[in-house]
Amino acid sequence: MLFINIGRLYGTTDAHYLRGEALGEQHSIDDAWLLTQGSRIASFGHMRTLSPELLGGAHEIIDCRGGAIMPAWCDSHTHIVWAANRVGEFIDKIQGLSYEEIAARGGGILNSADRLAATSEDDLYQCSLARVKQVIRSGTGAIEIKSGYGLSLDSEMKMLRVIARIASEVPVPVRSTFLGAHAVSREYQGRQEEYVDYVITGMLPAVAAEGLAHYVDVFCDTGFFTPGQTARILEAAYKYGIRPKIHGCELAASGGVEVAVRHGALSVDHLERADEADIKMLAGSDTVATMLPGASFFLGMPYAPARHAVDSGAIVALASDFNPGSSPSGDMRLVYAMGCIRMRLTPTEAFHAATINGAFAMGLGAETGSIAPGKLANLILTHPTPGSDPLAMAAYMYTNPYIHRIFFNGREYM
Ligand code: NIG
Ligand code: FE
Repeated sequence: MLFINIGRLYGTTDAHYLRGEALGEQHSIDDAWLLTQGSRIASFGHMRTLSPELLGGAHEIIDCRGGAIMPAWCDSHTHIVWAANRVGEFIDKIQGLSYEEIAARGGGILNSADRLAATSEDDLYQCSLARVKQVIRSGTGAIEIKSGYGLSLDSEMKMLRVIARIASEVPVPVRSTFLGAHAVSREYQGRQEEYVDYVITGMLPAVAAEGLAHYVDVFCDTGFFTPGQTARILEAAYKYGIRPKIHGCELAASGGVEVAVRHGALSVDHLERADEADIKMLAGSDTVATMLPGASFFLGMPYAPARHAVDSGAIVALASDFNPGSSPSGDMRLVYAMGCIRMRLTPTEAFHAATINGAFAMGLGAETGSIAPGKLANLILTHPTPGSDPLAMAAYMYTNPYIHRIFFNGREYM
């Protein structure tokens, strides 16, 4: 497939991630062509380098008429598999209850776990697949999905099997994360250490034996799991070769960053309450600082210190956190726009944070997230925006339709 007359081709880098000043460098070509071969990007260049052989050899030519092409979004943090929404808690929140108060009243994650336990695997698959298709439609070309609404061996395995089934059904890469330690289940209330033992000895071996998780996650935060408990789980997971991606510093400066970095986590996510020492630690490591502005927006929390983290040299990624309790949107364009509007990242920085750095944060930096030969041809073709930078426009007029056509694995997604 040959794309011609691309007004601007974004993300032209073979880097696996970008940090510091490189995050804000343009990596784009004006007036470009791009050739795909099968599911991959083959080559690209300026229109003046387009040869008659290339033009003649293409199976299909797509004239972009000045529209931009960008790599599809890479959403490295979602809880998109759930059984029922929590719109009732949304109303409670409007009336003044905090996320912690709702959780303490038996709402929150435990509410989702009750509903998930009562839902058949097939129904869970169908409703979750519909949401995944919806986010793919909105331009997400790679996605990480967590378990964590099971909180028992049966239900966690059910969730992970659903994730695997989704992965085999959709045209984009899916990474799965085992989040057994998302909350202490009802059965184990008041017996937190025993629940941690259960995650380690009662769940992890089965998850590993079935090969159902690429990563392990722990909600390391006040009211949930301590850094010490987190370390126990991460060390147990390493014995199975499963690397951590953890939740930290959403509700308090919880020690989550330190335990994540010390264990070589791929990412530590949330960071709304991260302090100076946390940012320093991240800047000195290859652990991705993943920030989730959708949760800040929805819960009315502070936004994570993205500007400061980028300036300090941390690898910063943006993701949706799509879940029924704290971020009921998986729209990565909105996440990208919030990165600019609320976190003071430039459009170029926020875009790289939501594509290549998101890919890296789910172990897919070599596979997708930028325009490079050999990477997946997962592409968004935008409407032309004559006279204005289309990427900046997509953040500035943040509800304006911007997607013209979408391609995954080198095929148009209808
Ligand atoms: O990332 N922080 C923990 N977990 C999710 C929320 C889960 C829920 O409320 O259902 C989050 O915000
Ligand atoms: Fe989350």
